[in-house]
Amino acid sequence: MAEHTLQNKVAVIGGGEKNLGGLLSTEFARAGAQIVVHYHNDREAAEETVRAVKEEGSQAVAVQGDLTEVPHVRRLFDQAVDTFGGVDVAVNTTGMVLRKPILETTEAEYDQMFGINAKAAYFFLQEAGRRLNDHGKIVSLGTSLQAAFTDGYSTYAGGKAPLEHFTRAAAKEFADRGISVNTVAPGPMDTPFFYPQETPERVQFHKSQGLGGQLTQLEDIVPIIKHLCTDGWWFTGQTLFPNGGYTTR
Ligand SMILES: NC(=O)c1ccc[n+]([C@@H]2O[C@H](COP(=O)([O-])OP(=O)(O)OC[C@H]3O[C@@H](n4cnc5c(N)ncnc54)[C@H](OP(=O)(O)O)[C@@H]3O)[C@@H](O)[C@H]2O)c1
Repeated sequence: MAEHTLQNKVAVIGGGEKNLGGLLSTEFARAGAQIVVHYHNDREAAEETVRAVKEEGSQAVAVQGDLTEVPHVRRLFDQAVDTFGGVDVAVNTTGMVLRKPILETTEAEYDQMFGINAKAAYFFLQEAGRRLNDHGKIVSLGTSLQAAFTDGYSTYAGGKAPLEHFTRAAAKEFADRGISVNTVAPGPMDTPFFYPQETPERVQFHKSQGLGGQLTQLEDIVPIIKHLCTDGWWFTGQTLFPNGGYTTR
């Protein structure tokens, strides 16, 4: 029987330097994992997170990469294997949001949104499927907007929507090695990612839709991802919507 624990495992966290990924890095380290902290632009945050992981008594390395570039995705996993000898867990928290009407969306915006939300997610899954040890765990980050009937987020929710199918296919294709694959699709989370495209009125509206009239907190989501990577290993091929009951108009 395989062990489903983070103790002495190696975790690659895409976007592992800050916000959701940053907290995952330190919480996984507290549970005994060694962490590959991927970052895109924020080297300082990555270095801070590496320090925080080491304070938990674990090891970490920071690796930069634009994950819309497939060679960068491969290099991330190469560096993980070279540094720690293998990878057991891969969580991809990278993403980008845009709130814009379809009639105003440019080709460049469409390409950028699908580049990070769909293409990068696909090739991260592919490389994880190639490089993870048997009984590994893969988690991608979606959004509860995937299940919403709302305006403005066509390239964000639409860009994340393929994750459901990538996840199901990968779960079937990697099942013979005991690797579970899931997507976690939170409601609006209280991080700097959420606010720039929202008005104060819309923030109030989003809050009003969740349990207790509040946004999703990182501390609500991290244990769910941790569960999928440990005792919750029997979940596979699923898209989970932890959102406190959030819906949209
Ligand atoms: N906050 C919310 O309301 C919310 C709700 C539901 C789901 N989510 C999802 O949860 C995940 C984490 O979000 P968060 O709130 O923790 O915000 P975040 O820290 O800003 O997460 C996004 C990450 O993606 C990285 N990224 C963007 N473009 C990239 C690229 N081309 N290559 C590599 N990395 C790239 C960002 O790095 P740079 O900043 O350096 O570009 C950042 O590390 C995202 O996938 C998001 O879609 C967020």
